[in-house]
Amino acid sequence: MELALSEALLRRIREASWVTAFTGAGVSAESGVPTFRGTGGIWEKFRPEELASMDAFLRNPDLVWQWYAHRREVMAQVQPNPGHTALVRLERLFPGFALITQNIDNLHRRAGSATVYELHGNIERNFCSRCGELYRPEEGEVAGTVPRCHSCGGPVRPDVVWFGELLPEEEWNRSVAAARSADLFLSIGTSAVVYPAASLPMIARRAGAYLVEINPEPTPLTEIADELLAGRAGEILPQLADAAERIREGQRADEV
Ligand code: OAD
Repeated sequence: MELALSEALLRRIREASWVTAFTGAGVSAESGVPTFRGTGGIWEKFRPEELASMDAFLRNPDLVWQWYAHRREVMAQVQPNPGHTALVRLERLFPGFALITQNIDNLHRRAGSATVYELHGNIERNFCSRCGELYRPEEGEVAGTVPRCHSCGGPVRPDVVWFGELLPEEEWNRSVAAARSADLFLSIGTSAVVYPAASLPMIARRAGAYLVEINPEPTPLTEIADELLAGRAGEILPQLADAAERIREGQRADEV
């Protein structure tokens, strides 16, 4: 479906010095990674506190480890989709650009995005829950039972944020700064209900950003957004990148 962009959005694309994109599970849905909420979402089948919390890990470390090992395998087999690729194209067009993601699947980095703030961690990394040391699996080690730290023998956990845990401080501070700097803020494929991440679009809006939401469904954010581009990220973002390239590269040509 051809996307008609509003005059207001076209103007922001033309004038923006800084663009910040904020993504959630919906961006990876078209790659085949299930979302958390909605039809087919992971939390329909599992209660988050049974798998994604320190309590769950202490109660049954092997079960939690196996669940993440399974998700790691699923995520390693999928490929970035046209939505991820369009975000790489957008990054090249603006002097300031940041991509904040709640996704742990590493697909933005695999697609080639350079500035990525991972607010909820990255499933490809693991660390020792006792001494904090980064864990690198040795051949044949990542099996059904939770691995042990090579330094202290403590149980190893995935480097993802669990319920009840704080977000990584540096990533969060950089994300807030990127939200405040944004002339244009794109909130893409997130239900915008999990805080504190969900406050970023509002922080951006209050600091003067033009707030655009990209999602097939409305969310609690829709009311405060300047625009909702209703549809799938893999269809909308490439069209947005096409328009931005026409505008920004045309501008550069005019300046020469
Ligand atoms: P959700 O599963 O809550 O929301 C996914 C959103 O993506 C929904 O609003 C869908 O309508 C939308 N969506 C689905 N398909 C889409 C598509 N093709 N293009 C664009 N949008 C689409 O996922 P998140 O908002 O990422 O946290 O969830 C936030 C956090 O909740 C996750 O990071 C995770 C979870 O608990 C932790 O694990 C800490």
